[in-house]
Amino acid sequence: MDQYYQGKVAVVTGAAGVICSEVARDLASLGCTVALVDLSLENAEKVAAGIRENGGNCKTYACNVMDREAVGALADEVVKDLGRCDILINGAGGNNAKAQPKIVEFDPRELEEDRPEDLVGLYNVDMDIFENVIKLNTMGTIYPLLAFAKYMVKQGGGSIINFASMNTYCPLTRNFAYAMSKAAVANFTQAFAAYFAKTGIRINAVAPGFILNPRSKLILGTVEEGLTKRGQDVIDHTPMGKFGSANDMCGAIRWLIDDRAAGFVTGITVPVDGGFLTLSGV
Ligand SMILES: NC(=O)c1ccc[n+]([C@@H]2O[C@H](COP(=O)([O-])OP(=O)(O)OC[C@H]3O[C@@H](n4cnc5c(N)ncnc54)[C@H](OP(=O)(O)O)[C@@H]3O)[C@@H](O)[C@H]2O)c1
Repeated sequence: MDQYYQGKVAVVTGAAGVICSEVARDLASLGCTVALVDLSLENAEKVAAGIRENGGNCKTYACNVMDREAVGALADEVVKDLGRCDILINGAGGNNAKAQPKIVEFDPRELEEDRPEDLVGLYNVDMDIFENVIKLNTMGTIYPLLAFAKYMVKQGGGSIINFASMNTYCPLTRNFAYAMSKAAVANFTQAFAAYFAKTGIRINAVAPGFILNPRSKLILGTVEEGLTKRGQDVIDHTPMGKFGSANDMCGAIRWLIDDRAAGFVTGITVPVDGGFLTLSGV
């Protein structure tokens, strides 16, 4: 518990996910009342049960962050229920395997009608899903940012955290839609931070290194059960030689949201990556 957080309300999107369930638990342990937002109310409720068991305060909300109207209604509902919004953690986001080619460089056969079934090039990915990934990571952050900043402006301040990625700095192979949208996150974090700076709202981002979630486990494997080639490449390219944990994100977020520690910090993206960005790969 920290007296500073008593009476503060934190909204966490993607709160049932690997990283933000941990962030939500951490914010509740500090004394915030936490609004847990996710696509599935049932999944958010599971996180809420753990928070309540530990004496924390929270409330769950189902919302698709890509639905602008629904996000506007969510902000109204959260503020009606909990009285205010001091912190917004924009954790909802992610990739989709169907937006990715399965090959790392152009193969002329991807243009042919009778290409082998397992050959999926950039020309063969589902472009609707490709666009959806871009929308999730961009507008799915911007809609909540705008909806909750409306209330923060009236309150005279607040703190917003967006989620970037290692792909923000340099795209991983096959990650086109995800990488470009996460590059956008760092860019618009700066733009929105400047726009809102005099309102007292600070807007920053964190860029997690590799933290396994159910989707990335399928692509990277696990240290315990065996890594895929890509998983081993990630570990080899991480000077600390391991994946991160959700808990590793909490310290950076604690710093960024705290006006006492980071009151003059806005528009930055903080990598939490075991040193991944220190190596060029050569
Ligand atoms: N884990 C990593 O290594 C890593 C690295 C860099 C950046 N990040 C970023 O960090 C954030 C959290 O990642 P994570 O690993 O914790 O992912 P995760 O475990 O997949 O959690 C994401 C949560 O957001 C929910 N969600 C997805 N689309 C949504 C929507 N349209 N509206 C509301 N909720 C939605 C997901 O629900 P469903 O499960 O039902 O889809 C899930 O509960 C994401 O932005 C991710 O891109 C993660």
